[in-house]
Amino acid sequence: MPLRTTRFIVFCLAASVAGLAWGSSSLKSTMRSWKGDAAAIDRMLVGGGAFDSAEAERILRGFAADSQSIVARISGSNAEARDVKARFGRFFQDAQSAVEAAPSRDKLKTAYSSLRADCRSCHDVYNN
Ligand code: HEC
Repeated sequence: MPLRTTRFIVFCLAASVAGLAWGSSSLKSTMRSWKGDAAAIDRMLVGGGAFDSAEAERILRGFAADSQSIVARISGSNAEARDVKARFGRFFQDAQSAVEAAPSRDKLKTAYSSLRADCRSCHDVYNN
């Protein structure tokens, strides 16, 4: 079994051992909605779509709320659980910074690229 698959299973176990209704299906559905939401911001910032800061802010607040609730649900204490928790914690911080940057297209572009890097770096380890 590849190491990353092992890691992901350990992550799911860490969550379920804590007696949480974690089902990876709930993570999957959150991720699916993040995909559409991230694409909407991509269209505004790089896809030539109209910049709508209120809509961007609404989406980013959703990212912050979702990641905060994911963090709250990970209570395993092994290394993988701590790593996943730290990654979603960082994503939460970066989502909040992006909310603050939302009124300015240029500032949002910078903040949002950090957020996108968080998506990628977590997937590099846990979802590929
Ligand atoms: C800290 C870790 C982490 C972060 C941050 C993260 N993801 Fe994920 N993502 C995962 C994991 C783990 C899976 C695999 C879930 C599964 O298969 O149950 C996943 C799966 C996905 C999938 C595939 C869902 C499917 O249909 O199978 C998409 C799309 C996705 N993520 C989008 C995003 C986007 C967009 C972002 C950033 C805005 C993001 N993710 C940030 C961990 C993360």
